[in-house]
Amino acid sequence: MEKFLIHGGRRLEGTIPVSGSKNSALPAMAAALLTDQPVTLDHVPAVRDIRTMGRLLADIGASVERSGNRYTIRAERIASPEAPYELVKTMRASSLVLGPLVARAGRARVSLPGGCAIGARPINLHIQGLEKLGARIRQEHGYIEAEAPNGLKGAEIRFERVTVTGTEDLLMAAVLADGETVLENAAREPEVADLAELLGKMGADIEGAGTGTIRVRGVAPLGGAEHRIIPDRIEAGTFLVAGAIAGGEIDVCGARADHLGALIEKMQEAGAEVAVSAEGSMRVRGGRRLAGVDVATREFPGFATDLQAQWMTLSTQAHGASILTEGIFENRFLHALELGRMGADITITGRQAVVRGPSVLSGAGVIASDLRASASLVLAGLVASGETVIDRVYHIDRGYERIERKLAAVGALIRRVE
Ligand code: EPU
Repeated sequence: MEKFLIHGGRRLEGTIPVSGSKNSALPAMAAALLTDQPVTLDHVPAVRDIRTMGRLLADIGASVERSGNRYTIRAERIASPEAPYELVKTMRASSLVLGPLVARAGRARVSLPGGCAIGARPINLHIQGLEKLGARIRQEHGYIEAEAPNGLKGAEIRFERVTVTGTEDLLMAAVLADGETVLENAAREPEVADLAELLGKMGADIEGAGTGTIRVRGVAPLGGAEHRIIPDRIEAGTFLVAGAIAGGEIDVCGARADHLGALIEKMQEAGAEVAVSAEGSMRVRGGRRLAGVDVATREFPGFATDLQAQWMTLSTQAHGASILTEGIFENRFLHALELGRMGADITITGRQAVVRGPSVLSGAGVIASDLRASASLVLAGLVASGETVIDRVYHIDRGYERIERKLAAVGALIRRVE
């Protein structure tokens, strides 16, 4: 199993380029199932979850061609409208093929995701929405079987709670449905708006993506399209935090500051120096005295749950107490115990973590438990004294494109070992 070795305490200087968004590229790839024409996606990050989605689409019968960060997917026919347990258990986002498959092929068989390190993460809202669109759903042997032999029918769907992939799944189902669909209490994340932009290029008729109410008028058939995936706001945010806690100065380039408003605001409140340039580059200077700042994770445009772990590492370097409240997932503080092994002072009560800083972190052997938790440990390793060894880095490879190379290029002492 691969590990990262990090020698902390190095200043970071230089420019870090931001990759395309994993969470935008995943639904965009699934959207290619909606047409028999080729869909070409640029700026797709080279991360493990994307390779898993590529494998899933190929199993379903699509041809998937990759040239660097460009993918061309052509689903001329749907050979097997199924997402097997073997793939779903390694990547929950596999359930994103449910909506497109029912819409295009009239049926789908998708394994139910099991438990997850960060919380329960059911897909009941995807299922309820599909039922509203007229699909018949059965659950058997750990699989969801959905059928709509005569096609889906537009409907009004109000999400009980905001769900990102649920909104994306139903948006993809609705674009081929007969008539109008209204999605209420829809997720407003930039990844949803990016998906809607791609679907629009394929010929779909969508209004309001990026707001809480999305209207879709079904059209068929959809055609091919070319689309460039938006930058990964979570990767960019991770590097901004790295810059704020390590000495030196880094430019995080190719990101969208309008996708990072809540983080930048909190960083500035903590006393970090972050400047945004017009071209989407952000400069962050380390070495400033940081003050503890409370953060509560929420749906976009609130503070992203996917940046909570990284904020926890920043809080260990800030003066005073920071209260972190996790508003999205019930069990997303696993990194706190590992940070504690490195010397952080963190108390967890239910969905709240109190971090008292600043702590002098010392390098230790730690275990990555999920994608964003791993990122927080890498950040801790950058400021800890001595050597940090992070085990199970396959978690980080799911969503960060060569993070060790990007950080090494700006001066971090980090390497991957077997
Ligand atoms: N929920 C339900 N029922 C559903 C769907 C969701 O109860 O049918 C609950 C979840 O259990 C959770 C909340 O609603 O408590 C929000 O979950 P959501 O559905 O929004 O999460 P997701 O779509 O499964 C996406 C990202 C996650 C990110 C969350 C929240 C992708 C592929 N994944 O997950 O990203 O944390 O939204 O913003 O887009 C990551 O990249 O590390 C990651 C976990």
